[in-house]
Amino acid sequence: MFKIGVMASGGGSNFKAIIDRIGNGDLEAQCKFLITNNAGCGAAAHAEEYGIPVYHISGKTHPDTAAYETALMDVLNRYDVDLLVLAGYMKALPNCVISRMSDRILNIHPSLLPKYGGKGFWGIHVHEAVVAAHEKESGATVHLVSEEIDKGRILSQVKVPVMEDDTPEVLAARVLEQEHELYWKTIKEYAENLAANH
Ligand code: GAR
Repeated sequence: MFKIGVMASGGGSNFKAIIDRIGNGDLEAQCKFLITNNAGCGAAAHAEEYGIPVYHISGKTHPDTAAYETALMDVLNRYDVDLLVLAGYMKALPNCVISRMSDRILNIHPSLLPKYGGKGFWGIHVHEAVVAAHEKESGATVHLVSEEIDKGRILSQVKVPVMEDDTPEVLAARVLEQEHELYWKTIKEYAENLAANH
């Protein structure tokens, strides 16, 4: 069975959408763990509800960088997952994780990358910038994670219209709804490609 691990920091609606698709059989996979840098977040609550082990690993739990990186690598080594899925994970990954999981880390970003990506563009800040620029359309992107933030190979995108009276919050909700469809489908396709190439 294809094994995934998820990393999330916030509400966890993308994480929940993925585990619901695993639950109903649309996505043939097992979710082995959730790593979060934010113990009280919605994603952690969802994981507990579904009986998925939660690991809280952050600058608070591990102030020493080497210990922090070891804690992340220990979880990866323990479960040896096929894919690491970033679902609203708001912290850059250390290079040791990126090289351990080379071409096996996916991220979802709430814009049409390469627009509105990189440093400072995360969560609601992306939508604030899109609304301020009076864009006519926005969307979401699933891409591979590389050492440069939001620059890895794009796997899929969905476009979403921006209305004239949109607030960043209204736009965020419209994009998020599409993210929930895009992410599990992209994971499924990527898993099938990995299986076909091995
Ligand atoms: C999502 O919109 C996701 O694309 C974004 O954070 C939100 C998390 O929502 N991710 C980033 O901005 C990553 N740079 P969720 O916690 O409800 O899934």
